[in-house]
Amino acid sequence: MYVEHPMTRMSKPILVTGGAGFIGSNFVLEWLACGKGPVVNLDQLTYAGNLANLANVYNDSRHIFVHGDIANTKLVERLFAEHRPFAVVNLAAESHVDRSIHGPGDFIQTNIVGSFRLLEAARAYWIGLPEGERASFRFLQVSTDEVYGSLEPGAPAFQESHRYEPNSPYSASKAAADHLARAYYRTYGLPVLTTNCSNNYGPYQFPEKLIPLCIHNALAGRPLPVYGDGQQIRDWLYVADHCSAIRRVIEAGQPGETYNIGGYNEKTNLDVVQTVCKILDELKPVAHHSSHIAPYASLITFVRDRPGHDRRYAIDARKIERELGWRPTETFETGIRKTVRWYLDNTNWVSNVTSGAYREWTVKQYGDRVV
Ligand code: NAD
Ligand code: DAU
Repeated sequence: MYVEHPMTRMSKPILVTGGAGFIGSNFVLEWLACGKGPVVNLDQLTYAGNLANLANVYNDSRHIFVHGDIANTKLVERLFAEHRPFAVVNLAAESHVDRSIHGPGDFIQTNIVGSFRLLEAARAYWIGLPEGERASFRFLQVSTDEVYGSLEPGAPAFQESHRYEPNSPYSASKAAADHLARAYYRTYGLPVLTTNCSNNYGPYQFPEKLIPLCIHNALAGRPLPVYGDGQQIRDWLYVADHCSAIRRVIEAGQPGETYNIGGYNEKTNLDVVQTVCKILDELKPVAHHSSHIAPYASLITFVRDRPGHDRRYAIDARKIERELGWRPTETFETGIRKTVRWYLDNTNWVSNVTSGAYREWTVKQYGDRVV
């Protein structure tokens, strides 16, 4: 029997950071659709944040959007004082590994300094709460499986006790934030929970990440860049499953605990790209279809590898299943089909987010990469 967190029933707001990004906007839309109560959504609207993701809740009085930085202490303190949230879900981050390789500065600033300032503001607010509310307050740090480093083929999947071995500036910055979150629980008793999730995919993912990039490029007849030999393995999770896991952890997770979240869908990158191509061949065949070659797969191009590229991630998600009763509902086959369909149905969204600065990024990242 799992009991809903008491504050969700009292309609206190939840403070979501990064709620205009990929996972954040899916989370906000679902939270409101589930009737969980109001959301204060703090987002800096970097290149990855997009208000169009939230178009369906523009006129919803339960959604309060605040344009701002999690590292802005004054702003965050004001939001705590004005809205008195029962929980914080920290999704705001710089999230793309390749960008962290080109320039780690923003990752240090948002993922480490920003998370630190948010934790500080949450602590100051939490200390002042009446006793009952202090006990039920939650701070959820949304982290990644990348903090655990790279797995050898055949090695057991990451458990929560796996040591931290981050290999990119992105994962190192996420690891640092996780350590701060842990310290705030151990030292101050702030009711912090941490989730470490595998690769997400689904609607509203910015087309710099593998799956939406390949869909976008394929539809434009451009190369589908596969790094190195394409045999790196990721464990894919449909974004709605990640959102439902976060809800479970807020409602029933134990403060001080960490929960791994994954999809039990280990795939090589090449497999993923080929699957996307097959679905596109079926849903949007190109005009001159050859009977021998799947036309979209013919766009696959092996390019220079990512420096420090982790070979394999895999999540053991049995703890969250055992303790909180959560399991993913989508298989990769069902989730990827929904995802391709969503991108085909939302070409305006894609054109919108890929105008302007997106082009500069693709030239910087892929311009001299073909091997
Ligand atoms: P995203 O890049 O799509 O979105 C990040 C959001 O944070 C954007 O809306 C951006 O505007 C906002 N943001 C950035 N800096 C900010 C700041 N200083 N203050 C306020 N807002 C700021 O990222 P995502 O893929 O949705 O990931 C969300 C979180 O989940 C991140 O913490 C990421 O590390 C984690 N995560 C992502 C995945 C994945 O596969 N995408 C998997 C596991 C964990
Ligand atoms: O594992 C969770 C992580 O998943 C999150 O913490 C990150 O925020 C999220 O970006 C994602 O990181 P990855 O680096 O795994 O995702 P990305 O989509 O960038 O790459 C997936 C795999 O595909 C990776 O092995 C690199 C490869 N790749 C990626 C791109 C963009 C290619 O082969 N070609 C590409 O063009």
